Amino acid sequence: MRNAVVTGWGKCVPPGVLSNADLETITDTSDEWITTRTGIEERRISHVETSDMAAVAGLRALAAAGLEPGDLDMILVATCTPDRLVPSAASLVQHKMGAEGAAAMDLNAACSGFIFGLVTAQQMIAAGGFDRIAVIGAEKLHYFIDFTDRSTSVLFGDGAGAVIVEASEEDGGVRSFDLGTDGSAADILCVPASGTEGAPTTDRRTVIQMEGPEVFRRAVAAMGDASTRVVEAAGLGLDDVDLLIPHQANIRIIDATARRLRLDPAKVFVNIASYGNTSAATIPIAIAEAVEQGRITPGANIVLAAFGGGLTWAAALLRWGARVEPLGESDADLPESHATGLELMQPNVDLYGKGI
Ligand code: UT7
Repeated sequence: MRNAVVTGWGKCVPPGVLSNADLETITDTSDEWITTRTGIEERRISHVETSDMAAVAGLRALAAAGLEPGDLDMILVATCTPDRLVPSAASLVQHKMGAEGAAAMDLNAACSGFIFGLVTAQQMIAAGGFDRIAVIGAEKLHYFIDFTDRSTSVLFGDGAGAVIVEASEEDGGVRSFDLGTDGSAADILCVPASGTEGAPTTDRRTVIQMEGPEVFRRAVAAMGDASTRVVEAAGLGLDDVDLLIPHQANIRIIDATARRLRLDPAKVFVNIASYGNTSAATIPIAIAEAVEQGRITPGANIVLAAFGGGLTWAAALLRWGARVEPLGESDADLPESHATGLELMQPNVDLYGKGI
């Protein structure tokens, strides 16, 4: 059987930290509200573009797989914050990685994008057309944040994560998946006037708008149901699940999803406190950290689950391969920056004003 096994993993988070205490100085919020209502303590603010973070994460994943950039035949970048509409972020990433010859394209399923990308890669490999695909989730969400809107400004952060998926006879890869979209709810989480429907009518940038409580309600149901379905579809029971790696949007959504799966909290990977919601990047960043921390063991059954703008939802049962040690390390890194998160946010604050 032609499997599509994850053989490399990597992440790239920018150095600028924006803490909840920093946010208290630019919007009407409190550390206490943010930590208790979301689980977020700080997030990263990028001094570079989405494709820069994506390329570094991709090169680190390639090194972990023991591969060279020229070995890739496809680069899939899941993002809703590409550097430009045209060309794709993936095009820029291909050049920055030095992966000339690899086909490259973006995929936008908002926060569910990485799982959509992983399943796409698995299907392309299983069909025989491709052998080695980099699946990258990367976002520079802070660009689209209005600090006068405290219901969004405390949630999002920047970063990138990547995996390498390779054709293999070895057991492993996506065993089952459940992807879905409810386009009738498109307006409850969106960035209006960001495409052909029109530019913003003022000199303000277009920004993320969200009906948080409604998204929350739907997220808990969609992630829980999709996760249950992929476990069943893989012919497994809930006891067979070794680790849940959920989209990191809100600790209360993660806890509710874990409860629906009746999972021991020790089997749930959570890093939301450090990065907040990095949309398509949360799951690949979490995969990279979970391997580094020894939370993923050879042959582990991992449930990935996400939801996001669209509204999209996605879950996959990913069986890990035999190797949890990286084959190599990359010295790729972002250009140095000593700017604080607050300093990097200043252009947004100048544009929108403070929310206090
Ligand atoms: O990846 C997909 C992206 N989307 C999401 O993950 C969103 C999912 N939704 C959520 O995570 C939650 O709905 C939020 C975190 C956005 C909001 O939490 P909530 O518990 O649903 O709060 P709420 O919107 O119902 O607001 C409760 C109160 C309100 O005050 P009043 O009317 O009770 O006086 C809000 O004005 O909390 C207030 N509030 C805040 N207070 C301090 C809302 N945001 C903040 C804030 N700081 N940042």
